[in-house]
Amino acid sequence: MNAGRVLNTVLKQSTRTVRGYALPLMKTESNMGTSASDKDRPMLPLGESYQLGSLGSKLHAALASREARSIRRRLPEPSVLGKQSLIDFTSNDYLSLSTSPLLRERFLQKITKKERGQILGSAGSRLLVNPDAHHRLERRLESILSRPSRNEYDTPQVGILFNSGFDANVSFFTCIPQSGDLIILDEYIHASVWDGLKASRVTQDCVKSFQHNSIESFCAVLESLLNDTNPSDSSASVAERLRSGTSSLFVAVESLYSMDGTLSPLREINRLLAKFLPKRNGYLIVDEAHATGIYGPPHRPGCGRASQLGLDGGLGSRVGVSESDMDNNEECRVLARLHTFGKALAGSGAILLTTPLLTSYLINYARPLIYTTALAHPNVVLVEAAFDLMVEGKTEQLSTHLLALSSYLASLLQSELEQARISPDFVCLPPHLIPSAHASSSTPNPFALPSSVSSSSDSPHPSAPIIPLLTPYPRPLSAHLLTLGMNARPITWPTVPRGKERVRVCLHSGNTRKDVESLVSGVVEWARAWTEQVKNSLTTESLQTQSKL
Ligand SMILES: Cc1ncc(COP(=O)(O)O)c(C=O)c1O
Repeated sequence: MNAGRVLNTVLKQSTRTVRGYALPLMKTESNMGTSASDKDRPMLPLGESYQLGSLGSKLHAALASREARSIRRRLPEPSVLGKQSLIDFTSNDYLSLSTSPLLRERFLQKITKKERGQILGSAGSRLLVNPDAHHRLERRLESILSRPSRNEYDTPQVGILFNSGFDANVSFFTCIPQSGDLIILDEYIHASVWDGLKASRVTQDCVKSFQHNSIESFCAVLESLLNDTNPSDSSASVAERLRSGTSSLFVAVESLYSMDGTLSPLREINRLLAKFLPKRNGYLIVDEAHATGIYGPPHRPGCGRASQLGLDGGLGSRVGVSESDMDNNEECRVLARLHTFGKALAGSGAILLTTPLLTSYLINYARPLIYTTALAHPNVVLVEAAFDLMVEGKTEQLSTHLLALSSYLASLLQSELEQARISPDFVCLPPHLIPSAHASSSTPNPFALPSSVSSSSDSPHPSAPIIPLLTPYPRPLSAHLLTLGMNARPITWPTVPRGKERVRVCLHSGNTRKDVESLVSGVVEWARAWTEQVKNSLTTESLQTQSKL
């Protein structure tokens, strides 16, 4: 497709006016979430307006405001993974297990086994009936996802199932931090953590955030808390409470960030907590939602990034993946790890691994665990089958291929963008994916890890299945890719900060190098067309200005 045609398609798709609102990309919307019937529906049908009165007007006004700012969310077109004509660069089905014939076969074998009594539903809350399948899955995952305790001071890790990762985060952060405790969050932490904290006993002034993945920023926040000597009305200062151990400090991170594809510097944060909170009241909470199934230590593929870095021995254990690594005498401060089943593992639900005391506390206080029906049996069976594949090493080749594709995409796209002289103002990769940018920006790291252990702060950044294409024009780029048969969604504020709009490319084991090459040529083709267009409009503008002079 030539540049002019590309641009025409894009521009035709880029604006439309409906009821006085300039709506971007209606064609795009129809492909990415607004079904034809949805679009044709009046904004507030007469009947609804009659029945809902002022409530209807208020809700309508809020949606209209979102529409006007091009941030109204809609469900995408219904589709069946594996049956769409589009190449999937969007779903979180990282290992393509949701369409795996092997997983399907294993699942059906398991669920139709005669010995299996109950196969449907779960018949109630875990506190009402406690299905044996759920209990067995928890015990099994405890042993798969954790290193065994080595001595009496290591805390054993207990797993508890939740219906979703969202419920698990809300439960943990609502219930576990106590009044007067302090929280430090990576600024990009998932919405469920914020929601949990909002309902917790922790006051807003005790919740701080640090710049995404920045150890410097984390240190600055930690330091400010440890030096906060302002006496409070009801209790000692933050510094006194933290130093004496009467308050706890929780640090929440995601091991792999879903919008950026960045890996958290877990070992560095762990080390800082161990060092600066010697009363052992600093805790790291790791959300492995996007890393589960993809990363893991040798011989335990898919167990997550914390396991890969040797942080899976439980609170108080020695950190490391090998004996020599563990000689560093670093202590594990990871209090809880969350593994979800809905992304790479093609199921739904989650397991939270933490200490027996915390598990017992959650069973008593976590409302999303107590007041809900437990995961349905087919789901539990599917998770069993997915972990069977992982333990048998059958997912390892999938994740190896996935991460290799990711490196291929980053390097091919970067070189094609450079060759085509595309300005980063139109589209670019984030710095962590550009080898030269990474090298020049990396300052000596005072917390450098032993060479045997890689971390996100090491150079180069390890591959990840998520590659954000940063662009101020995410909708037109996504629309263009759609015309080429590729589905990669635009992500805008409020999902990502303003100025950090992007097309999020999510790779899967089912993608091929050819898919990646098509994506790269589509992006470059689009960027060339935009570059031309901007140049032309600038020339026209300057000619008009000159003719006026
Ligand atoms: C980092 C992170 N944590 C938790 C969740 C919630 O997990 P689930 O989809 O199982 O509710 C998500 C899902 O988007 C996520 O991205």
